[in-house]
Amino acid sequence: MTAGSRVIGLGLDRVDGPAKVTGAAVYTMDVTAAGLLHASLVRSTFAVGSITSLDTAEAAAAPGVVAVFTHENAPRMKRPAWNLLTPPPPVPLRDSSVHHYGQYIAMVVAETHEQATAAADLVRVGYRAAGPAALSLETPGAKGRGNPYFLDAKRGDVESALAAADVTVDATFVTSANAHNPLGLFSTVAHWDGGRLTVHDSTQNPFLIRDSLAKVFSMSKDRVQVLTPYVGGAFGAGLRLWQHVILTAMAAREVGRPVKTVLTRPQMFTGVGHRPETIQRMRVGARRDGTITAIDHEATSPAAKVANVLYPVTLSTPATYRCDNVRGRDRQVRLDIPSPAHMRGPGEAEGNFALETALDEVAYALGIDPVDLRLRNYADVHPQTGLAWSSKALDECYRQGAERFGWAARTPQPRSMRDGRWLVGYGMAGVTYGHYQAKCQASVTVRRDGTALVRSGATDIGQGTYTVITQVAAEGLGLDPADVTFELGDTDLPRAPQAGGSGLATALSNAVHDATLNAVERLLSLAGADRSSPLYGCSAGDVVVGGGHLRHREDVSRSESFAAILARAGRPDLTAAGSSAPSRAENGVLLGSAAVSRFGRAGRRLVEATRAVAPAGAFAAHFVEVRVDPLLGRLRVARVVSAVDAGQVLNEKLARSQIIGGVVGGIGQALFEEITVDEGSGRVSNATFADYLVPVNADVPDLDVIFVGGPDATNAVGVKGIGEIGLVGVAAAVGNAVHHATGRRLRSLPITIEELM
Ligand code: MOS
Repeated sequence: MTAGSRVIGLGLDRVDGPAKVTGAAVYTMDVTAAGLLHASLVRSTFAVGSITSLDTAEAAAAPGVVAVFTHENAPRMKRPAWNLLTPPPPVPLRDSSVHHYGQYIAMVVAETHEQATAAADLVRVGYRAAGPAALSLETPGAKGRGNPYFLDAKRGDVESALAAADVTVDATFVTSANAHNPLGLFSTVAHWDGGRLTVHDSTQNPFLIRDSLAKVFSMSKDRVQVLTPYVGGAFGAGLRLWQHVILTAMAAREVGRPVKTVLTRPQMFTGVGHRPETIQRMRVGARRDGTITAIDHEATSPAAKVANVLYPVTLSTPATYRCDNVRGRDRQVRLDIPSPAHMRGPGEAEGNFALETALDEVAYALGIDPVDLRLRNYADVHPQTGLAWSSKALDECYRQGAERFGWAARTPQPRSMRDGRWLVGYGMAGVTYGHYQAKCQASVTVRRDGTALVRSGATDIGQGTYTVITQVAAEGLGLDPADVTFELGDTDLPRAPQAGGSGLATALSNAVHDATLNAVERLLSLAGADRSSPLYGCSAGDVVVGGGHLRHREDVSRSESFAAILARAGRPDLTAAGSSAPSRAENGVLLGSAAVSRFGRAGRRLVEATRAVAPAGAFAAHFVEVRVDPLLGRLRVARVVSAVDAGQVLNEKLARSQIIGGVVGGIGQALFEEITVDEGSGRVSNATFADYLVPVNADVPDLDVIFVGGPDATNAVGVKGIGEIGLVGVAAAVGNAVHHATGRRLRSLPITIEELM
């Protein structure tokens, strides 16, 4: 069976757009219920120590207050099962100890949001701070340990290659802690009904929330339902279960009424994770002819003392260039801070900054054009495993991106390009992004009225899932997208993975594609077995879909509508399930790389025996023009061209939008974003939108995006995830452009005006 006309790829408007702009879309914050109560959280004002006294009498007596929970009266709850990618938080309100600034130490529940907020201020807390707290990687005595996740990689002999290199770069890079800051404040509404728990939540991962809450409250999963039809952005903050979700469900159970919690903006800086700071040492060796002979990448990043985070910064480095001697090593330091978490391009955004800046330094040391240097060291095969890529058009990203940008007009000498008083700089960076896919299920229901309903419990946090999946289903069923509805955001629907790791589009589009194939096959089995059907005797290879009909591939007179097939079978509709899973081949360049670096030749044999190709994520090249005012140090990003190998693009308009949004995030990482912390208390001192800088319209020029390459071979739809790659690489391209403009090599993010004066 083949699909009707192409719907996949078309730049359709968001199908959820009208609901969002008219206010019809109900976000968690908008959810209401009869008898709804409102919660306000009290946070610790010190980093580490213990609570010595808690006086809640005044708060409890305040108008409208229904309950005040602290560690002294909160019920016992279990900690959800540990898992690698999304480890759970500690059980909230468990005891008097405090492990970071902003830890929840009380929750006030009241009739109105205002009453809860006012009463929360009346909770009197006595405490003994233990110190000094270890708050940054530079804190003396902050202890590091090797990467606990076995993701370090090495090949060849880095030290000998560095010693023999004609040119070496040895530099230290520092990137700041960043906050996700989605506009939608994270919210939870919990409601118990006869032993069943319903939770509305701001999350990218509803099944994780469901399974975790079932564990916390010792109940079976099928008695918990998590609803998340709309999420006001997340950028990774919604990948994990956070304590406010547990507390909201706990409070609702204790008071016997629905409870809503909406985090405040300052709470968003301590309660839902952040991009951790990093310190990285990068050493690169090269020969005169531009061959890169050694790359040694060492990164240190923090974890909270009381929660794990899988955060490899050097992960992509060994996969990026055809270089014989490479080492990537991550160290993690435990600090008295709220847990870091994944934030758009986690680890990759920081690691790429060090690698792609160092490449620019090598290009200057050798007098070779930065694009040319990357092409000379192009990894035709996955360099750590030696396997062929499932697809790779990074060379086209370089070539077409450079062409579109007008890179050829660049004069390489720093400070050689000017426009009036502005120094002009061109910089670029390449991006090799990891592949990730998880298991996914979906269902497709074809109805007699010519419409179809597609269902899967995924989330659309703004990336366009509603729309692209509607397109995949419409194409698979040969229907007009207007006749297809996609329902998501509900754990009573078929199980879907997180909207994360740039992996949902691949997982979900393939599950839905599979479901459409199964639905069409079942329609055909109804028609093909029925003597009165024009398609009697047809098998799958004989038919195509289009216009709500099954048609014979060659004989146009043989055609029957889905409606007629269903009517004759006496059914109102027909539902088919579909699923997708990473094949063994896709499962793991991660594990493949680890096997090769840990077990050498035996590891390579193992990898080769189990895999034919190295699954490729997306690739990209960003080209940036900056303008620097040498008197004032003002820095403007004037132009960005991003060329992206996205595999099969599902919706040209939304894919472009994903990349544009990512590039804006990259400009934020490069120029603005930095969580600042008060050294004594650990207080985030810029936890508002006034103080934590993000790019605004005036900071962002028109962004130009082109897509190159074609469908990827690892999955039937040919998709590669692009949720994160737009951000990764921008910081290095900006920094390299600043160097070109000014001659200054800046190795810490964000780049600030003081450094350019
Ligand atoms: Mo992304 S950091 O996997 O939401």
